[in-house]
Amino acid sequence: MELKDKRILLTGASGGIGQAIARRLDQQGAKLWLVGRNLHKLQLLLDDLVGDHTIIITDLNSQEGREKVISSCEQQGLDLFINAVGVMDFQFYEQQDSRVIEQILSTNLVSPMLLCQRLIPILQSQPEAAIVNIGSTFGSIGHPGFTAYCASKFGLRGFTEALQRELADTRIKVSYLAPRATQTELNSDAVRSLNAALGNNTDTPDQVARELMVILSSNQQQRYMGWPEKFFVRLNGLFPGIVHSALVKKLTIVRQYAEKSSHEG
Ligand SMILES: NC(=O)c1ccc[n+]([C@@H]2O[C@H](COP(=O)([O-])OP(=O)(O)OC[C@H]3O[C@@H](n4cnc5c(N)ncnc54)[C@H](OP(=O)(O)O)[C@@H]3O)[C@@H](O)[C@H]2O)c1
Repeated sequence: MELKDKRILLTGASGGIGQAIARRLDQQGAKLWLVGRNLHKLQLLLDDLVGDHTIIITDLNSQEGREKVISSCEQQGLDLFINAVGVMDFQFYEQQDSRVIEQILSTNLVSPMLLCQRLIPILQSQPEAAIVNIGSTFGSIGHPGFTAYCASKFGLRGFTEALQRELADTRIKVSYLAPRATQTELNSDAVRSLNAALGNNTDTPDQVARELMVILSSNQQQRYMGWPEKFFVRLNGLFPGIVHSALVKKLTIVRQYAEKSSHEG
């Protein structure tokens, strides 16, 4: 898709990955609606961008908040929706607060689904349109300590795959980008320490933004980031028992950092 003058809705725009995506899209001459709750972060981002963009401050977990976004898109038209919103909590599931579980599922899955449903008719009226959901390696591999987050991202991947097929005979292309661990504030100190202890590689937000640009310029429906993570995604699909054994061996370390995480919280 040629991005110049395209009208793009970017949720999670104040986040680490969202900001990197906004900078890349700005360089391409797109017109952005930058959605988040943190006005200060969005204002700083806007000051750094060249193009004429709009900030929308809203909580996407409320219907009112989503309506605010939808009405802007209805008025101005929309070519592309990039869903880069997300929350994460690192805890063993039995210890996790039920309100946090609801918040993770609402933010990462239910709210993006409800927003997408209302945006589809607006996107349909364009000659060329796209939806991109930012998932995660944890949308394909169930990882201890991230049970609710994994559930939300598995759900987002399933939603994206079904929608891709449902919209296959329309002008809307639907894609899924799955980053591995990325250096943003989404990861608490405990998660960063866990990644270091497990020897997990991390990417910069701009590496994720670059992968997104590859998706937008190709016909790829899904893209997984990082080696060996993308290999483990495949392996888990074909032989989940092997990945299960590997992760169970790391359980003691994961538990140790999850306990640290519950003390942080
Ligand atoms: N970082 C990683 O390791 C990693 C790895 C794989 C996948 N991902 C995925 O990549 C996406 C972006 O993550 P990130 O690393 O950039 O996280 P981040 O820096 O924590 O940013 C999260 C974004 O989500 C927004 N948000 C959260 N709850 C919201 C709500 N109720 N209403 C509106 N906006 C809300 C935040 O807005 P405010 O700050 O303005 O509230 C922020 O813009 C997420 O889907 C995440 O799951 C991240």
